[in-house]
Amino acid sequence: MLSASRPSARLAVLVSGGGTNLQALLDAIDADPGFGGEVVVVAADRPDAGGLQRAKDRGIATVVEELSAHSDRASWEAALRRAVEAHRPDAVVLAGFMKILSGAFLAGWPDRVINTHPSLLPAFRGAHAVEDALAYGVRVTGCTVHLVDEQVDHGPIVNQQAVEIRDDDTAETLHERIKAVEHALLPASVKLLCHDRLAVSGRVVRILEETR
Ligand code: GAR
Repeated sequence: MLSASRPSARLAVLVSGGGTNLQALLDAIDADPGFGGEVVVVAADRPDAGGLQRAKDRGIATVVEELSAHSDRASWEAALRRAVEAHRPDAVVLAGFMKILSGAFLAGWPDRVINTHPSLLPAFRGAHAVEDALAYGVRVTGCTVHLVDEQVDHGPIVNQQAVEIRDDDTAETLHERIKAVEHALLPASVKLLCHDRLAVSGRVVRILEETR
């Protein structure tokens, strides 16, 4: 993705919530001249997503595409894809985006859509991963950064990190500790993607050596 003529990968970031992972990515890019990527658009499925303001504060373009404004899911997703594509991203980062994207969307960026999920996949897929881990009684959960395929929280795993569950944890306290880990893991994984260092073979991702 990096070349002399295009030194920086163009990134679209999709958010639904507060956007702390978006913020962590923006901060990581700012702090690292060798990051190799820039966020060119932030898109949300709801106008109150906190991530939108974080983007505006940086002068980054924003897009809001609400499902309720469309007659069906396919037309919502097509509109979202068109709006994102208008910014010519090389890759798409799902940073707390809470809607499922179909193959029609993913086809625009093969092996170039990356997601962070608050569990150690394949355990606790879905929208309530933190609550589900607590209810199941596991002692260790964590976060997973993975490439997105057509199945929910399923694609090839780029990176994972464990987080211990404490006896007095609530969903809020546990999620805060998981997010703190995501805030390092997601930017590090996006940087690898920007540098074309993820070699995908079936479900398995190999991290290639740095060439420069
Ligand atoms: C993150 O913990 C992310 O893993 C999760 O939403 C949170 C977003 O936080 N995503 C999912 O649950 C997707 N299934 P943020 O808006 O503060 O970045």
